[in-house]
Amino acid sequence: MENVFELNHPLITHKLAILRDKHTGTKEFRELIGEISQVLIYEALKDAELDEVEIETPIQSMKTGKLNEDKYAFVPILRAGMGMLDGVISVIPNAKVAHIGMYRNEETFEPVNYFFKVPKDIEKREVIIIDPMLATGGSACDAIELLKSKGVTKIKVLCIISAPEGLEKVYKEHPDVKVYTAHIDEYLNPNRYIVPGLGDAGDRIYGTK
Ligand code: PRP
Ligand code: URA
Repeated sequence: MENVFELNHPLITHKLAILRDKHTGTKEFRELIGEISQVLIYEALKDAELDEVEIETPIQSMKTGKLNEDKYAFVPILRAGMGMLDGVISVIPNAKVAHIGMYRNEETFEPVNYFFKVPKDIEKREVIIIDPMLATGGSACDAIELLKSKGVTKIKVLCIISAPEGLEKVYKEHPDVKVYTAHIDEYLNPNRYIVPGLGDAGDRIYGTK
């Protein structure tokens, strides 16, 4: 799928091995989510256009490029997406933040939307959805639709672990949206959890189970 970009780096495999391990505690789990999110946002902004600026180094002046941070907004899908926010904000500190509250109904596996709050000028920004898990793709697709209904045209999704089924759904419904993922796993189990995955991301970030 041409809209999917997977990080392919031995250090990411190493970090994911610690993240996935069921013996890894909340503190280390949060730190790793933050660290991998930083790498994902670097990857997702490989195509960023820079403004030409002139600066002076201690040696001489030079023409170079700077990012207009006002062009971006991050959208964590609550709850687990909040775990990625510090990581991406540390890279683009002036980006605005929108919030989408969603949880998966445990019987139907369909996402249920309970909160949606976006900055006024959201349609002028490149919007980057953040959520550690892309399983069936239902939450990501609903989030994309909510944002498109507000006039947003440039949308990317960052996720730590994704399933092929969910990536296919996002591609079918929103071929214009690029997805950046640290790893594409194997499949979804009957409870629509990613296999081998890392379990329930929200519970592991917040220590709720
Ligand atoms: C998880 C995850 C995604 C969603 C992915 O959230 O953070 O939002 O499931 O599943 P999908 O691709 O099948 O829609 P969850 O429902 O566990 O809520 P939480 O973040 O509040 O724990
Ligand atoms: N949500 C999670 O937190 N983990 C999964 O594997 C699937 C959905």
